[in-house]
Amino acid sequence: MTRMQQFELPSYLEQSDAVRDRFARLRQRPVVLEVKGLNKDFETSHGPVTALRDISFVTHKREFVCVIGPSGCGKSTLIRILAGLETPTSGQLLLDGRAVHGPGPDRGMVFQSYTLFPWLTVKKNVMFGLERAGRGRLAAEEEAMQWIELVGLSKFARSYPHQLSGGMKQRVAIARALANQPRILLMDEPFGALDAQTRAKMQSYLMEIWKNIDITVLFITHDLDEAIYLADRILVLKAHPGEVQELIEVPVPQPRSPEQLLSPEFLATRKRLEELIHPPQDDAALSEDHLNMVRMVAVDDEVESVF
Ligand SMILES: Nc1ncnc2c1ncn2[C@@H]1O[C@H](COP(=O)(O)OP(=O)(O)O)[C@@H](O)[C@H]1O
Ligand SMILES: [Mg+2]
Repeated sequence: MTRMQQFELPSYLEQSDAVRDRFARLRQRPVVLEVKGLNKDFETSHGPVTALRDISFVTHKREFVCVIGPSGCGKSTLIRILAGLETPTSGQLLLDGRAVHGPGPDRGMVFQSYTLFPWLTVKKNVMFGLERAGRGRLAAEEEAMQWIELVGLSKFARSYPHQLSGGMKQRVAIARALANQPRILLMDEPFGALDAQTRAKMQSYLMEIWKNIDITVLFITHDLDEAIYLADRILVLKAHPGEVQELIEVPVPQPRSPEQLLSPEFLATRKRLEELIHPPQDDAALSEDHLNMVRMVAVDDEVESVF
């Protein structure tokens, strides 16, 4: 084997037996969320904008699906529609086979921006939904503390949000969303505002939580590594209009660990996502610019070489 061959990546479509079996089992699980022919147009002062066009996919029970795509491809619009905060122009949305209209406790949301109530302690923030759902104070408190423990923040139950780091706030937001025992957890770039190190830690926390409880997750990100690390499948959208490009079965075995970021399966998936999200036209445009720069430099005697 030559040195070059050793570094050749497998195709992202290649799956080990274990991974193939896992996907076969996953497909047998009940469908939690079904999106059928979803379209969304916005009326703007410049005329109508098609944010989403003909989006269809299903999410199975306990599946972790990431949605990825360039800025403006409709990721937030999609998740807002799923959360019931926005109405689709056409198409259907089914949760456990029933049509969804408007928001409901069956869908838990975690946003990028911190959405905790600043005037409530961590415990009270998590208790909020439980009390609204009719739990008595003591029951709500007990349940809230279990969720707070799950995200490792028992010591901070009496703290206020402003006393917590960004990562801790998002852990409370996750606990609060999970406390309502939603059928699906909808997350819109929840770690987008965190520094790289905290973000990596949060990804591992989320993986741990997901392994330990029975929850289906739809997670939006524009970070390729984050999507591959977290997802069973990745829904890749393109922009203008937001359409499904591909639904990728991530060939990296579960359970995940950070060491896998350098595995051939991981890199092969990353290469595919790069191709889809940063298509070659961009490179062509870039090298064109580069050529122009070189030409400009060539006619300018004072600059010897900038490259
Ligand atoms: N309320 C709105 N009114 C008009 N246009 C909107 C509105 N919300 C989103 N859009 C447009 O829809 C497209 C998708 O936006 P968004 O869902 O925020 O994308 P993403 O989250 O992928 O960056 C963009 O072109 C955006 O300008
Ligand atoms: Mg967005």
